[in-house]
Amino acid sequence: MIGIFDSGIGGLTVLKEVKRALPGYDLVYFGDTARLPYGNKSAELIRQYALEDAEFLLEQGAQIIVVACNSASAVALDFLQEKINVPIFGVIKPAVKEALQATKNGRIGVIGTRATVNSKVYEREIMSQLSESKEEAVDDLKIPAFMRQGKKAAGGSRKIEVFSQAAPLLVPLIEEGYAKKGETKRILKRYLLPLKMKQVDTLILGCTHYPLIKDIIQDKFRRAKLIDPALGVAQELKKFLQQNPELDRSLSKRGQEKFFVSDLTEHTEDIARLFLGRKVKLNKI
Ligand code: DGL
Repeated sequence: MIGIFDSGIGGLTVLKEVKRALPGYDLVYFGDTARLPYGNKSAELIRQYALEDAEFLLEQGAQIIVVACNSASAVALDFLQEKINVPIFGVIKPAVKEALQATKNGRIGVIGTRATVNSKVYEREIMSQLSESKEEAVDDLKIPAFMRQGKKAAGGSRKIEVFSQAAPLLVPLIEEGYAKKGETKRILKRYLLPLKMKQVDTLILGCTHYPLIKDIIQDKFRRAKLIDPALGVAQELKKFLQQNPELDRSLSKRGQEKFFVSDLTEHTEDIARLFLGRKVKLNKI
């Protein structure tokens, strides 16, 4: 079984993409609705919660874990990989890979929660993937097009700049059903303005909730190529399973899905419907 966890219900955007990439695979989802939001908590507390979330999924039979939450991926992924003995995927790495392929001017923007933005994880991951690309370039292999052009123009590897913007008001607005309202559009405009001024051409949607307002973000920032980390992590997982056929064979594929939450109200069910576009049975643990 594939396990997916998030601080709450937003991670269903990731579940949706995993289902699309791997139809028929059994899935177990945990949303820590009792302790949400993670995005304004300390890295230390998020790590503790993330470990408990992952352990719960293991008890449910998860053989692989996807950390759908950007905030938890940002501060707890390495920690979980040390503590937990199954493959664990986060949403940061695949998003960065895609952003580096997409950017033409080398200016990448990130919006996310405070925890994600303060962690500087996207900046670190971008630098790490760039240095890996540079090593490949030495062998003249698979170097991304933008780096080749940059090399020619600057006589060295091209500079990538990252501009991050915390957008803490978006999560509650989306959860309150304000996604399409003028208030959200105005707040979004304020969050995007500094990134527009920096002329970013690629924008990473670094939070589980933002795919729900993707069209509005695109409308407010026409020039930017939007990167949805949910798509990237689903593809990364699919590729991993193709490369690990034994593990793949051991995963049950009866199209079953189980949803667990740590607190359940009518509103939680409404939010789940909003994210998934259908009603699902949420089990409170
Ligand atoms: N799931 C969180 C994230 O992607 C957003 C909600 C929260 O702050 O817990 O960062």
